[in-house]
Amino acid sequence: KIIILDFGSQTTQLIGRRVRELNTYCEIVPYNKFPKYDDSVIGVILSGSPFSVYDEKAFRTSLEGIRGRIPVLGICYGAQFMAYSNGGTVEPAPSREYGRAHLEKFDSGNPLMHGLDQRTQVWMSHGDTITSLPEGFNIIASTDKVAVAAYQVDGEKTWGVQFHPEVYHSTQGTQLLRNFVVDICGSRQDWSAASFIESTVAALKEQLGNDRVILGLSGGVDSSVAAVLLNRAIGKNLTCIFVDHGMLRKNEFRDVLRDYEGLGLNVIGVDASQKFFSELAGVTDPERKRKIIGKGFIDVFDEEARKITDAKWLAQGTIYPDCIESLSITGTTIKSHHNVGGLPEKMNLKLCEPLRLLFKDEVRAVGRELGMPEHLITRHPFPGPGLAVRILGDITPEKVRILQDADDIFIRGLREWGLYDKVWQAGVILLPVQSVGVMGDERTYERAVALRAVTSTDAMTADWAHLPYDFMARVSNDIINHVRGVNRVCYDISSKPPATIEWE
Ligand code: XMP
Repeated sequence: KIIILDFGSQTTQLIGRRVRELNTYCEIVPYNKFPKYDDSVIGVILSGSPFSVYDEKAFRTSLEGIRGRIPVLGICYGAQFMAYSNGGTVEPAPSREYGRAHLEKFDSGNPLMHGLDQRTQVWMSHGDTITSLPEGFNIIASTDKVAVAAYQVDGEKTWGVQFHPEVYHSTQGTQLLRNFVVDICGSRQDWSAASFIESTVAALKEQLGNDRVILGLSGGVDSSVAAVLLNRAIGKNLTCIFVDHGMLRKNEFRDVLRDYEGLGLNVIGVDASQKFFSELAGVTDPERKRKIIGKGFIDVFDEEARKITDAKWLAQGTIYPDCIESLSITGTTIKSHHNVGGLPEKMNLKLCEPLRLLFKDEVRAVGRELGMPEHLITRHPFPGPGLAVRILGDITPEKVRILQDADDIFIRGLREWGLYDKVWQAGVILLPVQSVGVMGDERTYERAVALRAVTSTDAMTADWAHLPYDFMARVSNDIINHVRGVNRVCYDISSKPPATIEWE
C-alpha cells in the first residue's frame, strides 16, 4: 500500500482517490503517524498544507527511516517541507504564480516525468515557492515563473513537485502519479471492486460466523451497499431497520422499502413520523431540531433493535472519509451531523463497518459489482434529518407535505431533463416567508420556496449548478401551478463556502 501523510491540505483526500483509481490501496494518516513497522508500505506521498513551512504552527515530522528506504513524493508543501528541512530556502511567491502553469523545461528521462508532454499544464496553489534547493536536490522541471517546479534527490527515490498532480487541472497529473505509484513504487494494481468484494465477504464470514447483525438503512448509497454486501456474506442473519421519521422525500419510504425487498434484504420498516412531528412541534432553532431528530432516531432504532434479542453486531455504512483522522485546523462545529454514533455502547453491540476503507466512488463501484439497481447507486446524498433542515422555522405535517410536493417536481424534472446525474445534490427549501401574488383574479398570500442544486465532488466545497433557464422556468411553473400553498420560486446561487449546501 501507499501511505499518504496528511499535512492538512484540502486535496489530501483527492490524492487518495487518485491512487485508488490506479487500483492501488492507500491510507491517509496524519503527517506524524507513519506506520513504521508496516512492511506492506511501498511508497509515501506527502500532501500539501494550509501552512507555510516557516510558520510557527507548521506541521513538521521526521522522514528518517523512510527517505532512502522507500520511494517518497512530496506534493506542494510536502516538496517545500523536504527542501526547507534540509537547508533549502522557501519564500513567499508573487501571486502570479497561482493557478495554471506549464512545464516548460523538464527532464523527460526522469522516471517521474515519463510520458508527459512538453508544456503539459499543471496547477499551482500555494503562496510559497522554493528559491534554493539543498545539496543533492536537482531540478527536474521548471515553468516560466517557477524554477523549482519539480526535483529529485541524488541517488534516492525521493521527489518533490510544487504543483498538484492530483487535481483535474493538472491535465497529465494521473500519468505522473502512475509513474510514481506503478513504475517507481511497483504497485501490482490489484485493488478493485471485485477483489474488495471477494476478500470482504470472506472476512465478514470469518468475523461474524453465525452471529446476528443489525443494520440501520437510510435509503442512501452507503448503508444500502453495506447491507447488500453483508447479505451476501451472512444472508438471513442480517436484519435491517429502516426508520421513517416523517421527513423523507415524497413516497421515499414506500419506494425504498420495495427496492430493498427486491434485493432480498430482510428489512423492518418503522413508521415513527407521529413521534417526530410531536417532538418537533414549535421548535425553530436549527441545532435543536437536529438534536431532537438525532436522539429520536436513536430511541426508535434502539427500541426496534432490542426486539432482536440475539443480535451481537451493529453494522454501519461508514465510509473512509468519515474515518480519516482529521487534523483539526479550525476546530469549530458548523453543524452537528446526525448518525447512529453512540448506539453500539448503549446497546452493548460490537461494531461492523465493512465499507470503512472505501471512498464514495468505490462504494458505488462495489454496489454496481453487486448488481444493485443504478438508481440506488447514483442517488444524491440526503441529510439524515431529512426535510427538517429544509423547512426553515418550525415543522408541521402540512409544511412537510408542501415541501415534498415541490421537491418531487424538482427532482423528477431533473431526471426527465437528463440533469440529475450532472448535479451532486438538489432539493427545495421551504422559506419562512409569505408574499403577495395573483392567481386568476385572486390575490394570494402564500409561501416562497428556494431551489438548491449544487455541483461538488465531496460536499466540502460546492458551486451552485448552472441549470438551464428553460428548465428552471418549467419547474417554477409546475411548482406554482401544482403545489397548493406556494406562489413564488427562487434559485439559490450561493457557493460553499461561504454558504453551506443545506440552509440549516
Ligand atoms: P452542508 O449543509 O454542511 O452539507 O454543506 C454537506 C453535506 O452533508 C449533508 N448533511 C448531512 N448528512 N446528516 C447527514 O448524514 C446530517 O445531519 C447532515 N447535514 C447535512 C448535506 O446534505 C450535504 O450533502
